[in-house]
Parts: sequence; structure tokens; C-alpha cells
Amino acid sequence: MKFIPEEIENYCKDKSTPPASYLEELDRETHLKTLAPVMLSGHLQGRILAMLSKMIQPEQILEVGTFTGYSALCLAEGLSESGELHTIEVNDELKPIIDQYLNRSPYKDRIKVHIGKAEEVIPHFQQTFDLVFIDAGKKLYGKFYRQCVEKLRSGGFIFADNVLWSGKVLEKDADEETEALKEFNEMVLRDPEVEVVVLPIRDGVSVIRKK
Ligand SMILES: C[S@@+](CC[C@H](N)C(=O)[O-])C[C@H]1O[C@@H](n2cnc3c(N)ncnc32)[C@H](O)[C@@H]1O
Repeated sequence: MKFIPEEIENYCKDKSTPPASYLEELDRETHLKTLAPVMLSGHLQGRILAMLSKMIQPEQILEVGTFTGYSALCLAEGLSESGELHTIEVNDELKPIIDQYLNRSPYKDRIKVHIGKAEEVIPHFQQTFDLVFIDAGKKLYGKFYRQCVEKLRSGGFIFADNVLWSGKVLEKDADEETEALKEFNEMVLRDPEVEVVVLPIRDGVSVIRKK
């Protein structure tokens, strides 16, 4: 489901600064070589992630769910000069395409890819994060959130993707993934540690700020 009419979305893309050419090529290659290219953040959401990251100028970014690396490369655009981005992906078959495009970008030395289950990798990070992007297994969103918010600095942000799940969050007796996302959205809203706004961009992106 598109929450913004397609022609309006296309107008927004046309009137936004275009992404770097390596991102356009990564988008194309992801569509050619992967089974579910719809998972990639894509042009407009990518530009939004990059712009928000530039506003935050994070020193430390954590991404849960790399896929082919598109959103990691967008978020990295906002890193402060000495900053770094850690991204976690469970599917090791994606590593060659991730590496290929990291190497073509100006961020190859500042993006660290961790292959493994995010829920097992996250507890090993010792640093505090300024920005977290949650975009992996929907049934684990609650767990990822609790693990990440603990490692987020006060005033830091979590972005969570797919929180509208094609509008299925409005359904009453929904499937497991939808129910998990509904619980996640409710949990964040009720967490006194944070404030949240749900943006109807693409599949829904929550912007969560730790107080
Ligand atoms: C929606 S895609 C990420 C898209 C990417 N962030 C982007 O916008 O271009 C979700 C990714 O999370 C990975 N994933 C799923 N469960 C995971 C887990 N428990 N730990 C780490 N990665 C996981 C999947 O293999 C998939 O590549």
C-alpha cells in the first residue's frame, strides 16, 4: 500500500537532491540480484534518512538489518568526521554486494558490517549510540528496541521502519508479524523514556527520541 499518491511521491523525488550514483547502481543491482528488493529503503526514504542523519550529525550509528547496504550508506552521509556506523545482517550471502558498494563509497572505512543475529550481536557493543535504525525481523522489533534504547544516549534517536506494515496495523485479528508491530508501536508510545512520531513515509517510519 502506498500512503502517498504515486504521482506526489514521484514529484517529491524529482524535486529532491538525487542520491549518489553508487546508490542508484546499488538499487538497480539489488533489484536484479535479490529475491525481495522491496526491502531496500529506496530513493525517497534514503534521502530522508540521509537528511535526518545530517541534522543529527551522529558519532555512532547502529543499524539492525543491512540487506544490501543502501540505508547504511544513506545514514553514513550524516556521520561526524570521526564517526562510525555499525550495521548487522544475519544473511552472510549478502556480504559480497554490501562490500562491493561500501568500497565504492566514501564511507568504506567508517562502516563496520557485523554478520550474525542482531539480538546476539547488540549486547556486545560497549559504546553509546546517537542514532539507531531498526529494520530487521518484525517479530523481534520489541526485543531490538529494548536492547537499543538501553545503548542510546539521552537526546539520541531511533528510527524504526515498516511500522505501518502496508496498513495491516489497522487490522483486528492480524498475522503474527502485524501483531508484533502493533505491540511495538504501543510499547514505544507508552515508554516514558521516549517521545515518538509516526511518519507515513513509504511503509511507515517511527522517529523516536530518548528524553
Ligand atoms: C528490510 S531488510 C533491511 C533493508 C535495509 N535496511 C535498507 O533499507 O536498505 C531486513 C534485513 O534484515 C535481515 N535480518 C532479519 N532478521 C535479522 C536478525 N535477527 N538479525 C540481523 N539481521 C536480520 C534480513 O536478512 C534482511 O536483509
